Amino acid sequence: MRIMKIGKSGIDASVVGIGAWAIGGDSMWGASDDAESVRTIHRARELGVTLLDTAPAYGLGHSEEVVGKALAGRRGEYVLSTKCGLRWDVHEGAFRQERDGARLVINTRPERIAEEIEISLRRLRTDYIDIYIVHWQEQPEFPTPIADTMGCLTRLKEQGKIRAIGASNLSDAQFLEYVQAGQLDLIQEKYSMLDRGAGDRLFGLCGQYGVTFQAYSPLERGILSGRITDRSQVYMGTARSQVKWFAPENLAKIAALSGKWAPLCKKYGCTMTRLVIGWTAAQGDGGSVSVLCGARKAYQIEDNARGGDVVIDTADVAAMRKDVEAIA
Ligand SMILES: NC(=O)c1ccc[n+]([C@@H]2O[C@H](COP(=O)([O-])OP(=O)(O)OC[C@H]3O[C@@H](n4cnc5c(N)ncnc54)[C@H](OP(=O)(O)O)[C@@H]3O)[C@@H](O)[C@H]2O)c1
Repeated sequence: MRIMKIGKSGIDASVVGIGAWAIGGDSMWGASDDAESVRTIHRARELGVTLLDTAPAYGLGHSEEVVGKALAGRRGEYVLSTKCGLRWDVHEGAFRQERDGARLVINTRPERIAEEIEISLRRLRTDYIDIYIVHWQEQPEFPTPIADTMGCLTRLKEQGKIRAIGASNLSDAQFLEYVQAGQLDLIQEKYSMLDRGAGDRLFGLCGQYGVTFQAYSPLERGILSGRITDRSQVYMGTARSQVKWFAPENLAKIAALSGKWAPLCKKYGCTMTRLVIGWTAAQGDGGSVSVLCGARKAYQIEDNARGGDVVIDTADVAAMRKDVEAIA
């Protein structure tokens, strides 16, 4: 497993991370087996995956609780990230979504974050978070200056409760506000070879300011594993039903891509998943993208983790880009 630096924080983490969104087991992804989730997180570490990401909103606290169980007695072995600013336990904020009987709002006010981190630390059974990420950004109907949010996060860092600050789902202007207000070490953005927009906007800025670009949903919710050929094979919760690639005609395009890349898989001795992860890691300024894949089953992390060893030749990276540009 290759290791990379997280911004200027001094933290080293595996290039491939394990994301615990589906581990929350809510209507977004369908029920999870908690014992299997814990085993998957432990298996990840055996395979060299140190980066572990969760959020309070995943399963409305459940993902953090399962991650907390997995971390018991092993906290120092992982680079743990969780998030703030998306609440279902407070009323005030910008409406984000209704699900599982809860109303989620975006609230990035300093006093709310100061209380939210204590709840996360309890669920995660730890006294520090390695990378604390602002999940969604303030909205015009409930404004909070980014400088105020950053002020609070910087204080948490001084108190030793967090080691690095991250932000997610950003506009270019918001990125600039963050770096002007303090030390931003990581941004977490939706990025896959089928959905490259965030990279086109933000790779250059990340390179310029020394911020790590972390790609979330790099497998397009499992599609880019090449294993899903029909919607009936997976739980089509909210997380998947909005993804256009699950339409039958699009799944056929992915199947064709998988066939076309069979010689590349042979060349690199890997599965399609690993080829895709290797390609994703090679993007960004100087090929330095952190690839955050979701996994809640052992076979998935065994596949994904090994993607962290796949280094694809520049010519093949370019040829693969042409292939995906032809369909997305
Ligand atoms: N900041 C944000 O707003 C934000 C948003 C989304 C995600 N994230 C983070 O990013 C992480 C990754 O995103 P994601 O979960 O959408 O990523 P993804 O890697 O695109 O999809 C993960 C899902 O694909 C399936 N899968 C994974 N590996 C597989 C493999 N090797 N073969 C076959 N199927 C496989 C699993 O589905 P099943 O579990 O159904 O089998 C898994 O839950 C999340 O877990 C979360 O930590 C952050």
